[in-house]
Amino acid sequence: QTGLKTKHIGQNIEYVESCSSTQIIAHKLAQEGAPGGTVVLTETQTAGRGRMARKWDSAAGKGVWMSVILRPDVVPQKAPQFTLVTAVAVVRAIEEVTKLQPKIKWPNDILLNGKKCTGILTELQSDADGIQALIIGIGLNINQEKTDFDPEIQAIATSLKMESGDTVSRQKLVQSLLYYLEIYTQMYIEEGFGLLKVMWESYSTTIGHPIRARMTNQTLEGIAEGITEDGVLQLRTADGKLHGIYSADIEMTN
Ligand code: BTN
Repeated sequence: QTGLKTKHIGQNIEYVESCSSTQIIAHKLAQEGAPGGTVVLTETQTAGRGRMARKWDSAAGKGVWMSVILRPDVVPQKAPQFTLVTAVAVVRAIEEVTKLQPKIKWPNDILLNGKKCTGILTELQSDADGIQALIIGIGLNINQEKTDFDPEIQAIATSLKMESGDTVSRQKLVQSLLYYLEIYTQMYIEEGFGLLKVMWESYSTTIGHPIRARMTNQTLEGIAEGITEDGVLQLRTADGKLHGIYSADIEMTN
């Protein structure tokens, strides 16, 4: 009995006690033809991965480590927004299950009191015919204590329990998250990014603030003015120029 309130996402769940990374399993399942909506869940990962080839700390039984396979009929240019749509779903789920007020740091970090509690990693399987599958990886820190995290990230990472003081049900969170993920991905596919962009901006810590964006080739400082319909961050530098940021590490400056 999963208690799921969804029609599509999570109807097919692949649960493994332990694995290297749910992303790797999901990629393989997708290649083998697994249906859209398939969810891979695990208790612990030995090689959990994050954006920019970073590792993702996945303490056993303390969080939700999952990958969702979607097969949306959209052009590849519409893929990056799925990360932003997923971020909105994560925030809504945390709000529903706890009393916490999560914020989104562009593009994909969910923060509680300035520390990261969730990361999202969207990967693509595509060919000449377009997107074959989107693999959305979500790592949600739920019941960790500070010392459950690797020492080098203890200063920047947090969990729902550390911020609320309460143990949080992982099952309730997964149910709620898959529910919002289904609603919002459907909304995005049918109606576009408009309303979700407004929701995303309302939860964002970045928009309206001075930031530093570190990219591979350069670093820019300025005010984050908003995101475009394509999910691109708009950064206004002191010389008045508006820059579109596609991929970067963001720091708040003040
Ligand atoms: C990031 O913030 O850099 C993204 C982190 C994504 C972590 C999740 S945990 C489940 C899935 N499997 C992985 O190996 N990574 C994602």
